[in-house]
Amino acid sequence: MCGIIGYVGKRNAAKIIYEGLKRLEYRGYDSAGAAFICGGKTAVIKKEGKVEALAPYLNGVYANVGIGHTRWATHGKPSDINAHPHSAGEITIVHNGIIENYAELKETLLRDGVAFSSDTDSEVAAHLINKFYKGDLTEAVSQAVKMLKGSYALMAIRADENRIVAARYKSPLIIGYGGGENFCASDEPALAGICERITVLEDGDIAEITADGVNIYDGNLQLVIRGVLPNLAVSESLGLGDCPHYMLKELKEVPKSVQFTHKAFADVEEKLKTALSGVSRVIFVGCGTAYHAALIGKRYVESFARIPAEAETAGEFRYKNPVFGAGTAVFAISQSGETADTVEAARLAKSEGAKVIAVTNCLRSELTRAADVVVPVAAGPEICVAATKSYTGQVAALYLCALTLAGENADGERRKLLWEMPKLCKKVADNIDAGALAQMCACARGVYFLGRDIDYAVAVEGSLKLKEVSYLQGEGYPAGELKHGTLALIDGATVCVFILTDADLAGKTENAVEQVVSRGGKAAVITNVGGVEERLKNKAEYFIALPECDKYLSPLVSAVAVQMLAYRTAVILGRDPDKPRNLAKSVTVE
Ligand code: M6R
Repeated sequence: MCGIIGYVGKRNAAKIIYEGLKRLEYRGYDSAGAAFICGGKTAVIKKEGKVEALAPYLNGVYANVGIGHTRWATHGKPSDINAHPHSAGEITIVHNGIIENYAELKETLLRDGVAFSSDTDSEVAAHLINKFYKGDLTEAVSQAVKMLKGSYALMAIRADENRIVAARYKSPLIIGYGGGENFCASDEPALAGICERITVLEDGDIAEITADGVNIYDGNLQLVIRGVLPNLAVSESLGLGDCPHYMLKELKEVPKSVQFTHKAFADVEEKLKTALSGVSRVIFVGCGTAYHAALIGKRYVESFARIPAEAETAGEFRYKNPVFGAGTAVFAISQSGETADTVEAARLAKSEGAKVIAVTNCLRSELTRAADVVVPVAAGPEICVAATKSYTGQVAALYLCALTLAGENADGERRKLLWEMPKLCKKVADNIDAGALAQMCACARGVYFLGRDIDYAVAVEGSLKLKEVSYLQGEGYPAGELKHGTLALIDGATVCVFILTDADLAGKTENAVEQVVSRGGKAAVITNVGGVEERLKNKAEYFIALPECDKYLSPLVSAVAVQMLAYRTAVILGRDPDKPRNLAKSVTVE
């Protein structure tokens, strides 16, 4: 939810921390801050708003040690005061995660006479480290984190020491190695192009980072050796290219996401086959857009393998006391692999003896540690908060998983159809003209996305995307359910976007279009079914034509259309589609 970065070396930390925070900004952007050790003193700069609000204050800073933070508020509203870093005595920290027992810790500290200056849970950690400090920062951090319940990735500095002490539990944290300089950050992209070698810290680890080296300790302060890995993030892939927004750039990368995910599947196919042998029931879990991919995975498994399948939002699933039983496989779907509810759902499934398959774009994420098999989504880094190419990659991966469960091998007919899809996705991403429909949506009081079966799964995705990036009210709804209540909302100020890619169900959805239009509602139809446009030409105001394809693969093109519609609408309304208000990309809290 927040991003943190630290630097110790010989270069100016101010520049490095600022650039790192810009790259981490997708993790949260309601306030930002940094702290530097300058001549035996700590300088703290923090501001409400996006990272760029720090820029004017960083110009005059020169320091060799620094830590930075970009925030998505959980405890305490976005403000200068609640922005990180937080200080107590000579200790200054940045923290990502949630300290669940902060209220009781705060009460004890208040009784001891400690004064707090923010409403955050994180400030408690700063005061605890200060309380335990008796000349050794590592020891103080170690004692303090033992008191914390919840999750943390934190970094602490002290005015008279040229080092950072970092600790992690359930929130991601990596070390980056340079020559005569070392780094610490929430994720690999923050260090892309800066560090080629990294170490992913384990839960409970504490790291001492200086310019000359890094020592890593376990929770008992015993020195441990952790693996050094190549940094997989490539800085060139993190730029905007010639697109005005990441959302557009990433929509244009959908074809590659589908193609690379298909290619990458070969590496895990055998392992997956073995894990799925004897499976008689499948549960898909995910949050937000990943849950919408789950809805499609369920349809694939039931249609291809004829095995009962369910799709659940991970946050509901983990608290409903789910029944697993023998032969259950749980597919946990997550772009980031960090989403708290999805990771916990996977852990729960594993502890109950289910086979756990992670479907993720982040192959070193927390989710992968909870899984028996990791099915890669090869979408590449997704920076825009709104998920686009990761969704289509997930759908492609789930298609392949379901075919594996059904016993189809790489030469199967369905498999071959998937190879055709990248060029169809490209056609839609490059040529779709959603501008006029976006204009109509931008003026509407409400926008409803409607479809049946697999088109319904895409309808809910279209609706979420539009809400998220344009802030317009709306809903994704099964077309057949419209007349059972929601039709009451339809009038001349509402737009209904119908998704229609299944020729067998076309007549039924066309009825729903008629029902909307005869109540004065405005209709638009996204379709690749022949004859629909002709039949509805006097009813619907706009048509978006999709290339013809197999109905099971249609989400790969119809999703690009609805996501592009959301993007165009957001731009018309002057929203920032890459950083929608109140949101962050990785939701590592419940
Ligand atoms: O990283 P994840 O796929 O687990 O994220 C799940 C949701 O938070 C995410 O899909 C969210 O709904 C998107 N911002 C939607 O565009």
